[in-house]
Amino acid sequence: MILDPMEKTGKATTQTILQLKNNRPIVSVTAYDFLTAKIANAAQVDMILVGDSVGTTHLGFDSTVPVTLDMMTHHCRAVTRAKPSALVVGDIPFGEMAKSSDSIVEACCRLIQEGQVDAVKVEASFEDAPIIEKLVKAGIPVLGHIGLLPQTVQVLGKYRKFGKVKGEQEQLLKDAIALESAGCFGLIGEMIDADWTKRLTQELKIPLIGIGCGPACDGQILVSSDLLGLDLDQKPPSFVKVYDKIGEQIHSAFVQYRDEVINRNFPK
Ligand code: KIV
Repeated sequence: MILDPMEKTGKATTQTILQLKNNRPIVSVTAYDFLTAKIANAAQVDMILVGDSVGTTHLGFDSTVPVTLDMMTHHCRAVTRAKPSALVVGDIPFGEMAKSSDSIVEACCRLIQEGQVDAVKVEASFEDAPIIEKLVKAGIPVLGHIGLLPQTVQVLGKYRKFGKVKGEQEQLLKDAIALESAGCFGLIGEMIDADWTKRLTQELKIPLIGIGCGPACDGQILVSSDLLGLDLDQKPPSFVKVYDKIGEQIHSAFVQYRDEVINRNFPK
């Protein structure tokens, strides 16, 4: 069943995303630039995330930790210049959520006002519920992010699956419910055990959009460069389906161009 709530409204809102729960799976991808956002939007995805994964996928960092609010604002604005009808969510980068509540509100306002995104995403736990309430009260739509939180990789040591053991399952449920109660319009779940994801999805009234969480969530999100096969060297995580090998296509076009210039076949 293809339900298209965007037909009525033109521009997707957080309500559009909420209404998709229990109707059909939500489709979301990341984008960090004008062209990719234009193409993703033409493919009628529901939500575009300007993720801090821009750091590892496009800026050459080893993790998302070096990504700053200035960088995020720049990439958010590049995406929103494409005027997507999909909901555009901007990621709050490393360190911002550890600041004072006024600074956090300021950071979110910057992505909304300068980056012109429709909503912000925060890696969060139940402890962040009070600040999320404050953000929502200030008119800032918030997408929470639970499970594997890439901004904590320096503490975690490595990326891994969450929610396999009872203690972690209880923690995830507590986080999810607290973030929902604080006013999040949805949650991203990353690398959560598939069975526990199913339970979380059933417990929540808001949608849980998964990455590496199996099929039982309310939607899926993938990092666009992973699903496009953009990186010639980097193998994407095992849960990713690589839909094309765009990196190889770009490489072959560059090689052909190089040869034609050297052989004086271009320009004619
Ligand atoms: O930054 C990002 O791309 C993300 C996704 C992995 C959900 O947070």
